[in-house]
Amino acid sequence: MTLLTYLRRKLGLTGTKLGCAEGGCGACTVMLSRFQTHTQHHYAVNACLAPLCSLHLVAVTTVEGIGSVARKLHPVQERIAKAHGSQCGFCTPGIVMSMYALLRNNPTPKMADMEEAFQGNLCRCTGYRPILEGYKTFTVVRQIYKHTVKTHSCQNTHSHCIFFFLQDGGCCGGRGRENGCCMTNGSGEATALFSTTDFAPFDPTQEVIFPPELMRSRSLCFRGDRATWLQPDTLEEILRLKWKHPDARVVVGNTEVGIEVKFKNMVYPVILAPSFIPELNSVTHTEDGVVFGAACTLSHMGAVLRQAVETLPPHQTEVFLAVLEQLRWFAGQQIRNVAAVGGNIMTASPISDLNPVFMAAGCKLTLMDKDGSRVVQMDDSFFTGYRRTVLRPQEILVSIEIPYSQKTQFVSAFKQSPRREDDISIVTAAMSVTFTPGSNVVEDLRLSYGGMAATTVLAKRTANRLRGRCWGEELLQEACSTLAEEMTLDPSVPGGMVTYRRTLTLSLFYKFYLTVLQKLRQQGVNVEEVKSDCVSATELYHPQTPSSVQIYQAVPKGRSQDDVLGRPMMHLSAMKQATGEAVYCDDVPLYENELYLSLITSSKAHARIISVDTSAAERLPGVVCFVFADDILGSNATGPVVYDESVLADGQVTCVGHIIGAVVADTQLHAQRAAKAVKIQYEELQPVVTIQEAIAAQSFYQPIRTIQKGDPEAGFKQADHVLEGEMHIGGQEHFYLETNATLAVPRGEDGEMELFVSTQSASKTQSLVAKALGVPANRVVVRVKRMGGGFGGKESRTTVLSTVVAVAANKYRPVRCMLDRDEDMLITGGRHPFYGKYKVGFLNSGKVMALDVSYYSNAGNSMDLSLSVMERALFHMENSYNVANVRGQGFLCRTNLPSNTAFRGFGGPQGMMISESWITDVAQSLGKAAEEVRRLNLYMEGDSTPYNQILDQFTLDRCWDECLSRSEYQQRRAAIDLYNRQNRWTKRGLAIVPTKFGISFTAVFLNQAGALVHIYTDGSVLLTHGGTEMGQGLHTKMVQIASRVLGIPYSKIHISETSTNTVPNTSPTAASASSDLNGAAVQNACEILMKRLEPYKNKNPKGSWEDWVKSAYFDRVSLSANGFYKTPDLGYDFDSNSGRVFNYFSYGVACSEVEIDCLTGAHKNLSTTIVMDVGHSLNPAIDIGQVEGAFMQGLGLFTLEELHYSPRGVLLTRGPGSYKIPAFGDIPTTLTVSLLRDAPNDKAIFASKAVGEPPLFLASSVFFAIKDAISAARAESGIKGPFRLDSPASAERIRNACTDRFTKLCPPAEPGSFTPWSVQV
Ligand SMILES: Cc1cc2nc3c(=O)[nH]c(=O)nc-3n(C[C@H](O)[C@H](O)[C@H](O)COP(=O)(O)OP(=O)(O)OC[C@H]3O[C@@H](n4cnc5c(N)ncnc54)[C@H](O)[C@@H]3O)c2cc1C
Ligand code: FES
Ligand code: FES
Repeated sequence: MTLLTYLRRKLGLTGTKLGCAEGGCGACTVMLSRFQTHTQHHYAVNACLAPLCSLHLVAVTTVEGIGSVARKLHPVQERIAKAHGSQCGFCTPGIVMSMYALLRNNPTPKMADMEEAFQGNLCRCTGYRPILEGYKTFTVVRQIYKHTVKTHSCQNTHSHCIFFFLQDGGCCGGRGRENGCCMTNGSGEATALFSTTDFAPFDPTQEVIFPPELMRSRSLCFRGDRATWLQPDTLEEILRLKWKHPDARVVVGNTEVGIEVKFKNMVYPVILAPSFIPELNSVTHTEDGVVFGAACTLSHMGAVLRQAVETLPPHQTEVFLAVLEQLRWFAGQQIRNVAAVGGNIMTASPISDLNPVFMAAGCKLTLMDKDGSRVVQMDDSFFTGYRRTVLRPQEILVSIEIPYSQKTQFVSAFKQSPRREDDISIVTAAMSVTFTPGSNVVEDLRLSYGGMAATTVLAKRTANRLRGRCWGEELLQEACSTLAEEMTLDPSVPGGMVTYRRTLTLSLFYKFYLTVLQKLRQQGVNVEEVKSDCVSATELYHPQTPSSVQIYQAVPKGRSQDDVLGRPMMHLSAMKQATGEAVYCDDVPLYENELYLSLITSSKAHARIISVDTSAAERLPGVVCFVFADDILGSNATGPVVYDESVLADGQVTCVGHIIGAVVADTQLHAQRAAKAVKIQYEELQPVVTIQEAIAAQSFYQPIRTIQKGDPEAGFKQADHVLEGEMHIGGQEHFYLETNATLAVPRGEDGEMELFVSTQSASKTQSLVAKALGVPANRVVVRVKRMGGGFGGKESRTTVLSTVVAVAANKYRPVRCMLDRDEDMLITGGRHPFYGKYKVGFLNSGKVMALDVSYYSNAGNSMDLSLSVMERALFHMENSYNVANVRGQGFLCRTNLPSNTAFRGFGGPQGMMISESWITDVAQSLGKAAEEVRRLNLYMEGDSTPYNQILDQFTLDRCWDECLSRSEYQQRRAAIDLYNRQNRWTKRGLAIVPTKFGISFTAVFLNQAGALVHIYTDGSVLLTHGGTEMGQGLHTKMVQIASRVLGIPYSKIHISETSTNTVPNTSPTAASASSDLNGAAVQNACEILMKRLEPYKNKNPKGSWEDWVKSAYFDRVSLSANGFYKTPDLGYDFDSNSGRVFNYFSYGVACSEVEIDCLTGAHKNLSTTIVMDVGHSLNPAIDIGQVEGAFMQGLGLFTLEELHYSPRGVLLTRGPGSYKIPAFGDIPTTLTVSLLRDAPNDKAIFASKAVGEPPLFLASSVFFAIKDAISAARAESGIKGPFRLDSPASAERIRNACTDRFTKLCPPAEPGSFTPWSVQV
């Protein structure tokens, strides 16, 4: 059992969250304290991987242990909440605990310590900036600031000032107003989203002490039904046990074994835990190097090596530095704190980051069994096959010696992974060269690569050829051609990226070559000088501390403090989220007789089910029953718009992950084991997996939508140029931190059922559950307290789980299921992949005259919301550009993938991405600046869209101008051009991109909302509305609105939950419109109540709210009111291309600068400036949070996140280990977000605008900045003009697009001549 299961299920401590169960998200972070080598150690770990048995004599601190709302919040909890660092809050307890553990070890950390501490934590909502901003107040910078501020004229304590004081002499660079700070200028602009004066001081002496009873050790044995855990405390004992149990696993951190048991169904009956054995945990400095016991954790090893680097002469520490470089990017802190060096070696993974260094350095390993020891060198004979070594079954690894380097030896290590932080390598390498003293003649060379074979390998042939040669250009050429021959890969190799991986072996060697040249010259050896434009290729990546500015409109002077509308008010649940007290679906306390459900899903993309055999599963402990299609009392047909899906598969499956049935058992573990034991026989049918396959097979859902305006053919004739292009945009996993969850409770009479669901669509869940149960909707109540993120993923696909759970509960008793991350990713679909083909006609000036574009989306195995998604793509096909003659067509590809669905932006980003691709092509083909062509084509006030909607209250031009000036676009451009002239292998790029996002559901009937407001006789108000809270701060905004209309402090108003029995027939919380719709309904309800209270106010004008309420009550006036709102004047008709589609548009512009490493494809997000029109913000902190969160999610979409599918439609990326969302380190180094001032919107509540989705597309500015940088790299090879770059701009795509001498040595295999590992769907 893991610590996490124990905390949540046995102790009911639900503050610690389950986000992935594989150590990849940090939601389960807790602090462990252990007494070892006479000191206490506090360290953050992933509770999801920590075996409970390993915690004997260990103190565990969870988020509940450090503070609570009722008691007192710990400063780490308070500051993340008040700094707006908690949106949905599901990641928050984990982040709190990472910070807490850091402060326990170091009460005044540096920013770098903090960034390291968060390497293992993910947040999908906030964009990370506010978390860092809040916690910056604990850092050394903050302490210095405290002293600095006294001598500075700034009167205020503002968060972001802290950084700028030290960097620039103030956030305004000394250009502030009379009081010296720009944040209080007289223009009505404000920039502080929180005040540090509100923070309780942090006193590190007040922490809980280490329990003295845990300061001892002894050997232990725990016996379970499937495994025995033996924890010996002497070397002799463990060797004896290993002799007795040669198949026993030695487990230290469990970061490998835990994954094998959970995801690969491995069973290890005997486990040996060596954590208390001194020899395996010791560190010894010898004459030749440092010897680490095999159980030393990576954190400990890092600390020892860092110390050695500080004290030893530099020439001795080349190997140590290479190890440290690998450790910098090795997993996250929580993993490094428990994972052992021996575990990394003995896992023998071909993509181990440390083994290449150990191999290149020739480290020595001591292996031991009961009869003695032997020392082996880590060379290519150590690894005998995939995850196999020379270690004999009775042996264990006792220690590793990492040697000092020699005077003439140079060592480098490299790791290339999709994401820099906490990611597994694509290719990892270490290189060591030793020269004949005083010369550049190679005496010894070892080039070690991971990710190029089934084991870590040495490029022996290349090394042999280069031995005795001089380090120079000739050697480089020989090295590259030999490496290209030696480091080959089968084109079908697992992991794919064949060309990229092969090119990397050369590129990394080239980096090493240049680095060594520099070092040789520093030693006075006569070698050629590294050209100045190549120097940047040798620089190791060191993140810079991010800084940020947020600018918004201040509330008018004199407004009452009680009126919180327009103020940066904290998310109302933030404090509870930070203490772990906020209740999510799976935190609802267990019912006494509750059962757990696990889904049985298809392993085939397209097949007939021949048989389902449950006999083996039935025999397993805890199994109560199975649920199949026959158990559905109502209708098995389901679907959010058309009923083209089944609740449970009936005879046929149409995707991998198609739900066939379910097992209900007493516990999650038992249910999951039984589900895996169900045997299904299939007759396989040919699947359609990719868009291209669907086009070839004409496999489309109907209708095929078209929007046409003007005469495209005539436009092409008028154009000076016509060009054609295409682009593919990959899909995206929602990766809400809280996976789908449902608890269904039968009420025992009249077919009543109560469901607690993590869904954006309470009403849709209600109606589909009722349909499956065969009861009217009035028997089903759906309740939603809050979600740990939704992003569209919980709009319709949640019902695939909730209907099944309800069917099971209907059969028996309360049933719960929270999907594991891998199940959720497999089953629930994501953002639609899109392929766009375009033809664009334009004048010499760059003015676009005509456009013909076809969109193809991969809709998957059911219609779901795909038609509406495509319609929105078409409604955004021109993004912000005025094109007189335009035709867009949209095809929904029917494929055998899980149905794709709503995702923030809902097709809009894909539609706009294609338009930014053709506008970039236009600029590149004319040799003009893209910014100039964009500006030339930009809409103006009064222009009309392709669907004939007139643009009024148009603010995009203002956003554009402000963004240009705030980003200092022209100066930046000039600096980038200069940089690019001076650097051959790193290039910078810049792009400014606009967005125009239409606000309304395109299905007109959904543009309605209801609210229910009760006033109780004590004056407290219970507010309910149709929207759900998923972190976006909807409930907070609704309370702000009610507070304004009722004229009472917000503290008197409470929202308990969203439920179908309070506000019926609700639209999903989606389309960014929930504040507009529900806000207006709340306003309506509150106004009705105010009207009823008016006589009592008039009668007693000096009375209080409570007086008026009481008077009205005693006068028998109803103090409960329904509110309702529908958006007026909507209704578009595709046939006539007329009628209003959108109520209004949200506008924004972003400018981003990036730097790419042309040799590896890695990129850095240097700077982003965003100007966003959100009208009169209801809550600037929440709105800026939405802008930043959406931007970071878009950054993932366009630059990082890749779903890999096999050619047979199997999803290969099913967790944070293989699917990478942006992490803390991906924030642009400087980030400015400015909400456009003085831009009231007369079409939404209190002049505000929608904000949830519109900013997401602004992240495409990073994509196009990357494309700009690639263009500069291609120009070095003489390649000019438009080129295709698909999204995301991953490291692989960037590298492959930077054509050069290395890429030419690694040509791709002929398409069609092999079966690729993954396909572009
Ligand atoms: C989220 C996450 C991120 C990761 N990131 C990286 C990364 O960036 N780079 C990387 O290289 N790896 C990474 N890993 C892999 C893993 O963390 C490392 O391999 C780690 O060093 C394993 O150590 P452990 O103590 O947890 O091993 P365990 O799981 O305890 O054991 C691993 C294996 O080693 C064997 N073993 C351990 N000690 C001995 C011994 N003394 N004698 C004989 N056999 C022994 C065990 O029997 C078992 O087979 C990651 C893993 C996770 C879960
Ligand atoms: S749940 Fe443990 S790291 Fe994700
Ligand atoms: S607030 Fe971080 S995942 Fe939602």
